[in-house]
Amino acid sequence: MAENKNTISRRGFLDIVQKIAAATGLAAIVGPAIAFFWPADLEEVPSEPVAVGPEDSIPVGGSKTVRFGRYPAIVLNTEDGLRAYSAVCTHFACIVTWDPENNWLACPCHEGYFDPSDGSVISGPPPAPLETIPIFNQGGTLFIGGEM
Ligand code: FES
Repeated sequence: MAENKNTISRRGFLDIVQKIAAATGLAAIVGPAIAFFWPADLEEVPSEPVAVGPEDSIPVGGSKTVRFGRYPAIVLNTEDGLRAYSAVCTHFACIVTWDPENNWLACPCHEGYFDPSDGSVISGPPPAPLETIPIFNQGGTLFIGGEM
């Protein structure tokens, strides 16, 4: 009986499966490590203003997170007025959230905390304040970014 040259041995098949599993596992480890050392490019912001919503859509003490280009921005209605910041933490680009009970913006990744009045760092490892985004009201609608 002639041997079929297109067949693969069981051992050969297992070797291929093992190599694919190893490559997948390596990618699962290396991918996040690369992202850790190369955080998001925060320079990519939309050139046009982005609508947040009606001027009364955020109560005092409240917040709204909106898409701002590829990344989210967070809009706060503080006792001192409206503020808008990039929601991307300046440490390693995790997304900050508003914590009204503690009156700060909190990054869950490494316990970074930011001041809602100016985005400055209160505590934790972030090396810089949150990026401030211009906010303005045009015809009763709030916008962030773009020209004021
Ligand atoms: S990514 Fe925000 S504190 Fe580390």
